[in-house]
Amino acid sequence: MSSQKVWVSEPKEGFVLGFIIDLGSDRVTVSTEKKIGSSSTVQVPYESVYPAEDDSEQDYDDNCSLMYLNEATLLNNIRIRFNKNQIYTYIANMLIAVNPYVDIKNLYSRETIKRYQGKSLGTLPPHVFAIGDKSFRDMKTTKQSQSIIVSGESGAGKTESTKYILRYLCESWGSAAGPIEQKILDANPVLESFGNAKTTRNNNSSRFGKFIEIHFEQMSKVTGGYISHYLLEKSRICSQSSSERNYHIFYQLMAGGPSPLKQKLGLEGKTLKDFRYLNRGLCEFFGQSLSDPIVHDIKDFQNLEKSLEHLEILAGDRLSIYTVVASVLHLGNVDFEDDPDDTRGGCRVKDATESSLKLAASLIGVDIDELRTSLTSRVMQTAKGGLKGTVIMVPLKTYEAANARDALAKAMYSRLFDYIVSRINQSIPFKSLNTTYIGVLDIAGFEYFTINSFEQFCINYCNEKLQQFFNERVLSDEQNLYEKEQLGVPKIEYIDNSDCIELIERNPRGILSILDEESKLPKPTAGHFTSEIHKQYPNHFRLALPRKSKIKEHREIRDDEGFLVRHFAGAVCYSTAQFIEKNNDALHASLEGLVQEQSGNQFLKGLFGKASTQVSGKLVYVSVASKFRSQLAELLDKLRGTGTSFIRCIKPNAKMIQGVFEGGQILSQLQSAGMTSVLELMQRGYPSRVQFSSLYSTYKGLLPPKLSNLDPRFFCRALFKALGLSEEDFKFGLTRVFFRPGKFKEFDQIMRTDPESLKQMVSRVTKWILHSKWKKSIYGAVSVIKLKNKIVYRRENLLVIQKTVRMYLAKKKHRPRIQGLNRIRNLNSQVQSLEQTAQKLKKNKEAGQGDVKKLQADLIAATQKIKSNPNLGPKEIEKLCQDLFSKCEMLVKSMSQRAESERIAEEQERARKVREEMERQKREKEEQERARILEEENRKKKAEIEARRKKEEAEMAIKLKTQKTVGGKSEEDHASIVMLEQDKRDTELAMRLAAENNATVDYSSDSGSTGSGSLRRNNAVINSRAGKKHDLSGWKYSELRDTINTSCDVELLEACREEFHRRLKVYHAWKARNSSRNSGISAAASRGPDIMEEQQRAPKSVYQHQHIYPTSAPSPTPSDSQRYFRIPFTKDGQNKGLWYAHFDGQFIARQMEIPPSREATLLIAGRDDMQMCELKLNETGLTRKRGAEILEYEFEKEWSKHGGERYIRPAERASLANK
Ligand SMILES: Nc1ncnc2c1ncn2[C@@H]1O[C@H](COP(=O)(O)OP(=O)(O)OP(=O)(O)O)[C@@H](O)[C@H]1O
Ligand SMILES: [Mg+2]
Repeated sequence: MSSQKVWVSEPKEGFVLGFIIDLGSDRVTVSTEKKIGSSSTVQVPYESVYPAEDDSEQDYDDNCSLMYLNEATLLNNIRIRFNKNQIYTYIANMLIAVNPYVDIKNLYSRETIKRYQGKSLGTLPPHVFAIGDKSFRDMKTTKQSQSIIVSGESGAGKTESTKYILRYLCESWGSAAGPIEQKILDANPVLESFGNAKTTRNNNSSRFGKFIEIHFEQMSKVTGGYISHYLLEKSRICSQSSSERNYHIFYQLMAGGPSPLKQKLGLEGKTLKDFRYLNRGLCEFFGQSLSDPIVHDIKDFQNLEKSLEHLEILAGDRLSIYTVVASVLHLGNVDFEDDPDDTRGGCRVKDATESSLKLAASLIGVDIDELRTSLTSRVMQTAKGGLKGTVIMVPLKTYEAANARDALAKAMYSRLFDYIVSRINQSIPFKSLNTTYIGVLDIAGFEYFTINSFEQFCINYCNEKLQQFFNERVLSDEQNLYEKEQLGVPKIEYIDNSDCIELIERNPRGILSILDEESKLPKPTAGHFTSEIHKQYPNHFRLALPRKSKIKEHREIRDDEGFLVRHFAGAVCYSTAQFIEKNNDALHASLEGLVQEQSGNQFLKGLFGKASTQVSGKLVYVSVASKFRSQLAELLDKLRGTGTSFIRCIKPNAKMIQGVFEGGQILSQLQSAGMTSVLELMQRGYPSRVQFSSLYSTYKGLLPPKLSNLDPRFFCRALFKALGLSEEDFKFGLTRVFFRPGKFKEFDQIMRTDPESLKQMVSRVTKWILHSKWKKSIYGAVSVIKLKNKIVYRRENLLVIQKTVRMYLAKKKHRPRIQGLNRIRNLNSQVQSLEQTAQKLKKNKEAGQGDVKKLQADLIAATQKIKSNPNLGPKEIEKLCQDLFSKCEMLVKSMSQRAESERIAEEQERARKVREEMERQKREKEEQERARILEEENRKKKAEIEARRKKEEAEMAIKLKTQKTVGGKSEEDHASIVMLEQDKRDTELAMRLAAENNATVDYSSDSGSTGSGSLRRNNAVINSRAGKKHDLSGWKYSELRDTINTSCDVELLEACREEFHRRLKVYHAWKARNSSRNSGISAAASRGPDIMEEQQRAPKSVYQHQHIYPTSAPSPTPSDSQRYFRIPFTKDGQNKGLWYAHFDGQFIARQMEIPPSREATLLIAGRDDMQMCELKLNETGLTRKRGAEILEYEFEKEWSKHGGERYIRPAERASLANK
C-alpha cells in the first residue's frame, strides 16, 4: 500500500506525484514529491487521487495503452510527450494536439507528408496528417464523406492544424497543389486578414467559425471546395479592449498599403491613432513593435494581394474592398453632439469630424448631406395617410446617432466579409454531384471569461451541440468495435447534454426564443429578458442564478443581470447586458436605404442587395441567434452524414510561449473537450486492446521455439490460461484481446519478470498445452466409447421404433374406420332420442316414426359397409358419416321444428284461453259493476219518481180540494161552460176529421144547439187565436201530422202537437160516442190490473183521470221531459198484459201493448196516432199512479226486445238535420 504511486490534484500543475502513506475513511494521506502549498504531505479526498503508472516517465502514443486510464495519467502522458516535442497523442482514434508555439523541425515537411500517406493510424507517431490520411482512406473505403472536427480554446492551434490538414490533403491528392488546391490554400490568408484579429489569447485569433470542404472526384483527386462561415464577431469592428486589435486588414492596409492606394482612400498620412475604431485598442503593427512567427502586417498585406489575385479578385474589386475597409474607418471617426438649435432634442455632426463625414460619404458614394441626415435622424412612417403612410423624419439623440453609425459600419464590414467568402467560393469549383468531400471544421472551442456575453453564449451553445455529436460518435465507434469483436459488452451509458441544448434552443421558450421575443417587444430590456429566463426555468438543472456561481465576481451579478448555464464543460455565468443589441443585426431603414438606393459605389450597393420595400422607422429585426441556430442545425446535419475524426487542440500556456506546460490549465481544457469523460468510458469498457498477432510477435522472442510456433490465437489462449489471469480482466475478441483498464499492465509485468519466473511461466504454459493435449486425447477416447454406447442404444431403440411405427401404420390405416364406426354409434344414441321425440308428436306421428326408422336402417347399412370393407378409404368413410350426419341433422332439425311448432301452438292456445278467461272475468266484473251502478241509479231514479209522484198526487189533491171548496156553483157553471165550449169545438173538429176520413159525425150526443155552438165556437177560436203565434185551425189533419213528423221548428211543432192531439182527442171522443156500447168509463177497478177493452188505446185507468184533471191547467211536466210508464191490464177478464207508454213532453211518443198470448203491438206517434193514447200526460193520471212510471231502460229493453226502432225526438231532428 505504501508503495502505491498516485497523482494528487494540484491547481497549478494539474497533478503532482506522491505515495499513499495512510488510508482514512474518506481521505487518503499522500506524501507528495513536490510541495503542495507549504507541505509535502497532504490529506485529500479519494476522488482527487488517481493511481499513477509505475514508470511515470514512460509515454505512449495512444493514451489507451496506459495501464491506468484517468485524467492524471492522461495529463502526464501529454506532458512527457510535449516535453519531447511530441505534441500529438491519441486517445483511441482521437488526436490531442498541443500547440508548441514553435516550429518543430520537419514536423510538417513534404517528406513527413509523404511518410504518412497510406499508413494506418497508429503505425506512425500521432500526427494531424495521420488523421487527414485516415479520413481520406475512410472516405475511399466507406465511400462516405468525412469530416474532421478541430476544437480547442482560442490560441490552441485549431486554425494552424486546419491549415496543415488542408495542405496534407491538397498536396497528397492534388497535383502538387495545382490551381484548385492552391485556391483552397490561398483562401486562408484572405479569410485571416478579414476575419482574424489579435486578441489577448491569440495574435492571430479567428473571429469566425468555418467549415472548409475539399471535394474529391471519384474519391481520389481534389476537384473543388466550399467554405461555410459562422458568426463573425462584429462588436470588434467598433471597439476592442486595450490590448487587442481590430481585424488584421485595417492594420495591413495601413502598414502595407501602397501610398497611391492610401491616398485614394484618405488614409495617407494617417496613423492608427487617428481612427476611433482602432485607437481604443492596441495601436501597434505586427512586424514592427509586435512580433509573431505567423503574423506580419506588411508581409501579410502582400500575401493578401497575391491570394486575392489567385482567387481571381481583380484590382478593381480589390480597390472596392479596400474602399469599404477605409470607409468603415472614416465613418467611425464621425462624431455627434447635441444640436442646440434642434427643439426636438436632436444632434448634429461635430464640426471637427465633418471632414471624416465627407470622406466617408465620398467613399460610400453618397451625398454628404444625405449621409448626415440618415445618421442623425431616422425615417418614421405613420400608420395612417395614404398608401404607405406619411413618412416623417425623427431626429436622433447623440448616442442614438453614434449607434446608427456603428451599426452601419458593422453592416458594411460584415457584408464585405460575406462577399469575400462568396468570392472565394466562386473561384473554387464546386461540384455537389458525385463528389465526396473531407470537411474540416475550425470553430472556437468552449469559452469562459470573467464577463461572458452573447458571443460566448453562442459559441458555447455551438460546443454543446458538437459535444453531443462527439458523444454519439465516439461511443458508437467504441461500441461498434465491441460488437464487431463479439465481446458482449452491455451498452455503455454516457452523460447526455441534450437537456442543456434543449434549454438553449427549445422552441418556444428556450433561451434563444425568449431572447428573440424580448427583442420584438416595443421596449426590450436586458433585465426583463433575464427575469423571463429565470421565471421560465426556476428549477432547471442546467440553469441557475449568478449567485450560485463558484466565482466571486459572478456572485456579485444581480439576478436580472445574468444567468448561469451548467455546460458539459462547466458552469458559465453570462452577463445579459448586451444580449439584445448583439442579437439584433438590424440597421435603420433610412441608412440601409441610403446605401441601397443612393450609393454611387456600385460595389457597396451590391453588398447591400435590393432595397426592401419596408420603409418604416422600426428596425428591420434580424436575429443573429436564430440565424446561427439554423446554420448550426444545417452544419450538424452535414456532420451526421459524414464519418468523423476529432482533433482536440490544447493551448499549453497563457503566455503563448514555447516549452511551458501549465498542467492546471491544460487539464481544464482536456476536461472541457470531454476527454476525461472519454476516459471514464474507456474505464468502464475494455480500453486496452492488442491484436493477437502483435501480442504473439511481442512475446515470441521471450519464449522457447516450441511455444512460439503456435497459432497466435491459441498461443494467446495458452498464455492467458497458463498465467491464470481472471476471465473478468480480459476478453477474447475475434482478432484481438481486450483488457480491462490496468490489466494489460499486470499481464505485461508477468511477461517481463525475471528469467527464473519466466522459466516457471514457460513450464506452466507447456504444462497447460500438455494438459490441453491430454484432455483432447481423453476427450477422443471418451467420444469413441460414447459412440459405441450410442450404437447399442440405437439398435435397441430401433426395435421400439419399428414396433411403434407398425402400430402407427396400422392405426393410421384403420383409424378412420374405427372413428367412423364410433361416430355412427354416437349417432345411434341421437336416433334413439329422435325416436322418442317422434313418439311424442301429436300430428303426423307415423310419418315422423317412419323417418326415424329409415335413418336407423341407413345407420345399420353404413355400419355394415364399414365393417365388411377393410379397404374403405378415409374419404369414403368420411363421406358416409357426413351423409348420415347430415340426414340425422336434417331429421333432428325437422323433428325439433315440428315438436317446437306443436309446443308453440299449445302454448299459444293455453295463453289464449287464459287471456279469454281473464277477459271474461273482467267483463263479468265490469258488467256486475255496471249493473250495480245501474241498479243504484235506477233505485235512485225510482225513488225520485216516487217522490215526484207523491208530490204531484199531493198537488192534485190540494187542487181538487180547492176547486171543490172555492169553486161552488159559479165554478161548476164555469166548468160546464168550458166543457160545453170545448165540446162544441171538439165536435166541429171531429166533423172535419170525419170529413177527411169519410166518416160521419153523430151530433145526437151534443147537448147544445149547433147554431149557437157554432157561433160560440167561432168566438172562442178567435179568442184563443188572439194570443197565439200559429193559427192552426185551418190546417188539415194530415198537414199537422206531416209537420209533426218533419218540422224542425220547435215552437210550430209544439203548437202542431197541441192542436193535433186536441183534434185526436175530439175524434176519439167522437168515435167513442159513435161506436161505444158502454161509452161511460167506469171508475171501477182501482185495484189490480186495468181493464183494457178491445180497440182501446190505453187501459181504462188512463182515461179515468182526464175529466178530473183540467185540460187548461198548466202542465207540471216540462215539454222536453221523457217519461215512461207501464200498466198491467187484463183483457177479456183473464188475459193479463202490459201496456207501455213513452211520453215526449206532454204527448205520447211510443206505445206498446204486450198482451199475454199475442204478439206485442208497437206504435209510434206520427204513424200510428189513431191507435195511440191521445191524452196529454197530465190528463192520464199516470204520473200520480203508484208504480206506473218506469225507467227509460226498462221501456227501451222491452221496446227493442220486440223489434222497436230507435226513437228520434222531434226536438233532436234539427241537430240531426244539421249533421
Ligand atoms: N502546430 C503548430 N506549430 C507551431 N506553432 C503553432 C502550431 N499551432 C499553433 N501555433 C501557434 O499558435 C498560434 C495560435 O494558433 P491558432 O491561430 O491556430 O489558434 P486557434 O486555435 O485557431 O485560436 P483562435 O480560436 O483564437 O482562432 C499560431 O499563430 C501559431 O503561432
Ligand atoms: Mg483560429
